[in-house]
Amino acid sequence: MSAVSLAEERRVEPTLMWRDGAIVTLDQTALPHQEVTLRITTVDDLIDAITRLAIRGAPALGIAGAFGVALSAYQHCHDGRLLTERVQHDATRLAHARPTAVNLAWGVQRALSRLPEGADAVLSEAIAMAEEDERINRTAARHAADLIRQLCPHPRLRILTHCHTGRLATGGWGTALGAIRHLAADGQIEMVLATETRPLLQGARLTVWELREAGIPHRLLVDSAAATALATGMVDCVVVGADRIAANGDVANKIGTYSLALAAARHQVPFLVVAPESTFDAQTPNGAAITIEERPATEVTTLAGLDVTCTDTSAFNPAFDITPTELITAVVTEERIRYGGRHRGDAPAPTVAERLARLSTVVPDFPRPGIRFRDLAGVYTCADTLRDAAYALTEAFRGEFSHVVAVEARGFILGTAVALAANRPLVLVRKAGKLPGPLRSVTYQLEYGQDTLQMQDHTVPPEGRALIVDDVLATGGTLSAVAELVTQNGASVAGFGVLWELPDLNGAQRLHPHRVVALGRERS
Ligand code: MRU
Repeated sequence: MSAVSLAEERRVEPTLMWRDGAIVTLDQTALPHQEVTLRITTVDDLIDAITRLAIRGAPALGIAGAFGVALSAYQHCHDGRLLTERVQHDATRLAHARPTAVNLAWGVQRALSRLPEGADAVLSEAIAMAEEDERINRTAARHAADLIRQLCPHPRLRILTHCHTGRLATGGWGTALGAIRHLAADGQIEMVLATETRPLLQGARLTVWELREAGIPHRLLVDSAAATALATGMVDCVVVGADRIAANGDVANKIGTYSLALAAARHQVPFLVVAPESTFDAQTPNGAAITIEERPATEVTTLAGLDVTCTDTSAFNPAFDITPTELITAVVTEERIRYGGRHRGDAPAPTVAERLARLSTVVPDFPRPGIRFRDLAGVYTCADTLRDAAYALTEAFRGEFSHVVAVEARGFILGTAVALAANRPLVLVRKAGKLPGPLRSVTYQLEYGQDTLQMQDHTVPPEGRALIVDDVLATGGTLSAVAELVTQNGASVAGFGVLWELPDLNGAQRLHPHRVVALGRERS
C-alpha cells in the first residue's frame, strides 16, 4: 500500500475507485489535516485499512468489500484458471473485518455471486455498486430532506448529526449528511450541530471537514453536550446513518446514537435514520441479535497518541450501540419511509395549535374568581414551538407589515420572536410611566379592570403598517388600544397576531375590520 497526496483524485469524486489493479481512496484517518490517497493492492492491506478505519462508513465498507473480492479474484487467477476456494477464503476474511455493518458482508457476497463469470465480472459488479450507491444515497437523502421539511415546517433548520455519514462514508453524496446537503442546497440550513463522536472523532475530523468543504454552517459539540442542545431547543431534528437495521426496525449505529435518541424523545425532537435498503438485515430479528464490535482500549485511553488516563486502565469500547425502533421517528431509504415508534401511525406532525394547547394550561379563578386564565408560560420554555409560532404569524401576514408592535408584558416575548423571524423592527407598547416621551397614551377597559398604554411618537412612521402581537386575545380591549396608538401616530394596522384566542369574549369582532390570526383557540 502506498500513500500519496493526490488533490486530483478528490476532484474525481467517487469515494472508492479502481485504478490499474488497485483500490484508490482517501485515508480517512489522515483527515482533516492531510489528504492522503491510499492505493490498495492486496486483500491484507484492505483488511488493515478497514480495521484501522482508513476506510469506514457502512455503505463505503460494502463497496470496499466488493472491490476486495475483485482484488482477490485477479490475484488468484493463474493462466486463465481461477482459484475460487482462495477467493472464497479471502471473501470470508473481508466480510469479518468488521462485524457490525451489514453492508460489508453484503458487498462481499454480491461481488462473490459473479465469481463463476470470472474476475472481470466481479470487478464490474463492484464498479456498478460504487456508482449505484451514490444514486441510492441521493434518493434516500432527498426523501429524508422532504420528511424533515414535513416534520419541521420552518424555513431554516437546525439539524444535529452524529458520527460521519457523508460522501466519504458512502459511494458519494452521503446518507444523513446527504439529507443535510439537499436542505442546504435549498437554503434551508441555519446550523448543523456535529457531535465530535468519541473515541475516534469521526464527527470532529470528517463531518466538519465535509461541512466546511460544502460551505454549510456548522458547530462542533462534545457528545455529552447533545442532550443539553436538545433540551434547550437548539435542534429541530436529529439525523443519523445506520450500520445494520434489524427486521423489527432496531438500528445499530455509532456508539452514542442511543443516548441521542433517548434525549430526542424526551424533548420531542424528531429522530431520523437515513440508510440504503441494503442496510436492512431481514435475517436479524432485533437489535439484541446484532453483534457489536468492541475495539481496543487504547482508543479510549489515548487521545491523538497521548495517554489520557493511568497506564493499563482497562476500557469498555463498543464501536456501536442499538437504538430501539420505539425511539425512532422514521428510517428513510431510497425506496420507503419506515416509521418507528416515535411516529404515531401515519398521523401528520402536530400543528402549532396542538403544540400550543399541549404546552399551556388553564388556571381557573385567576387572577379573579370566575376568570379562566390560559397560561402560555410553557410555550416559552419550548424554543421550537415559540419559533414555529413566530414563523406561522410571519407567514400569515407575509408582505403586509413593516413593523411589529408588541404589548407588555408577554407580548414582548412573541413580538421579539416575530420581529426576528420577519426581520422587521420591533416597537414596544408599555404600561403608563415606563417610557420617556414624547408619548401617545390610550386608557381602556380590561377584561378585569382599566389600564393605560403608551407608545413613543413616530416609532411606527406614518407610512408604516403595524402587525400588532400579543400572547392572548380575550375581549380585544388591549389590542384595540394598541391599534389606536398606532393610528394616532398616523400609521396603519396590518392586522393582529396572537398565540391564543378566547372566542367566547368576542375580541375578534371588536378588532373588526382588521384581520386577526390566532394560532390556537379555546373551545367553547
Ligand atoms: O466506526 P465507523 O466510523 O465505521 O461508524 C460509522 C457509523 O456508525 C456511521 O454512522 C454509519 O456507518 C453510517 S455511514 C453512512
